[in-house]
Amino acid sequence: MSALPHLPQAPLDRLGRPLHDLRLSVIEACNFRCGYCMPADRVPDDYGFDQAGRLSFDEIETLVRGFARLGMHKLRLTGGEPLLRKGLPALVERLAKVPGITDLAMTTNASLLARHAQALRDAGLQRLTISLDALDPDLFRMLSGGRGGIDDVLAGIAAAERAGFSSIKFNCVVQRGVNDHEVERMAAHFRGSGHVLRFIEYMDVGTCNGWDRARVLPSRELHARIDARWPLRALDANYRGEVAERHAFLDGAGEIGFISSVTAPFCGDCQRARVSADGSLYTCLFSGSGQPMRSWLGDGEAVFSARLADLWSRRADRYSELRGSVRAPRRHVEMFLVGG
Ligand code: GTP
Ligand code: 5AD
Ligand code: SF4
Ligand code: SF4
Repeated sequence: MSALPHLPQAPLDRLGRPLHDLRLSVIEACNFRCGYCMPADRVPDDYGFDQAGRLSFDEIETLVRGFARLGMHKLRLTGGEPLLRKGLPALVERLAKVPGITDLAMTTNASLLARHAQALRDAGLQRLTISLDALDPDLFRMLSGGRGGIDDVLAGIAAAERAGFSSIKFNCVVQRGVNDHEVERMAAHFRGSGHVLRFIEYMDVGTCNGWDRARVLPSRELHARIDARWPLRALDANYRGEVAERHAFLDGAGEIGFISSVTAPFCGDCQRARVSADGSLYTCLFSGSGQPMRSWLGDGEAVFSARLADLWSRRADRYSELRGSVRAPRRHVEMFLVGG
């Protein structure tokens, strides 16, 4: 991947944070209905399959080039479920060539990965993150809203390994009384695999996940449980603003992580922007509304990035630090629109 030929002044937001990281949703549809994100009783089956409002691949490329001009160098494709977007490898191939992008990743539920892993790898996708909340087949199906099969996910993982993806990250959202009895089984499964399991505190995203603080299992409790069985040693962050607290198994069986967005917010170093499939910018996972940007794309990437820089310089979001206070925004964008 080539260096950025011309980098205009990279903007800082009002809290001094640069724009390093873009999470780009390519589709708002999903074939799962996880209760904490897109519950089946709130989101109809055919939701998000209307293509009319979606950015085209040409528009996406212009947008990504515009972000890269401002210093964005980490790009993550998200959904909904990104593998439902037709022709995704062709988009990956175009984005992998954008000057300045040094890291190109995707978050997926992996249910459709077996048939796409090789094409994505060949197109230039560098890294994969897989959402996986349980290994037990019945629990897995229940958590996916009755839609997913664990065997498809395991086949997707195997195909990804064969295609050359290594050190895959696994995101496990832990809810007390729902899947917390699975965590040791999951840790045992991924120890020694070369992959990295991360346990995520259940968050109050969106408007329909029925969040209940009693179901949040603090990372320190989980850490104590894992450490009691397989002693751990804390590792330094890979980069400033990394959301996961990294730990190594003392016996050399690799790494495990904890993402503590409820009990230990990390807004201070948040360099992430999110864009929905229809081209709206969300400067926080908990933003009430987005800024539509699609109409800016017709004027080209330079004009686009100037407008984006202006917006970013006015950003002051820090929802997780304000959670529970009167200053915390009450309306939140749905997680399936901005992809985590
Ligand atoms: P890489 O370091 O690029 O591999 O990604 P990552 O560690 O940031 O992981 P990922 O994008 O998979 O994020 C993992 C989870 O952390 C998400 O699914 C969210 O639950 C949570 N998360 C990530 N970014 C944010 C954020 O900006 N705010 C909050 N509150 N949670 C976040
Ligand atoms: N709390 C924490 N993480 C969540 N995700 C989705 N909803 C929530 C929530 N309520 C994460 C999933 C997935 C990514 C898309 O977002 O783990 O990996
Ligand atoms: Fe789909 Fe991911 Fe949301 Fe689950 S968390 S409903 S897999 S977008
Ligand atoms: Fe960033 Fe908002 Fe998450 Fe804080 S709550 S880390 S500002 S996305």
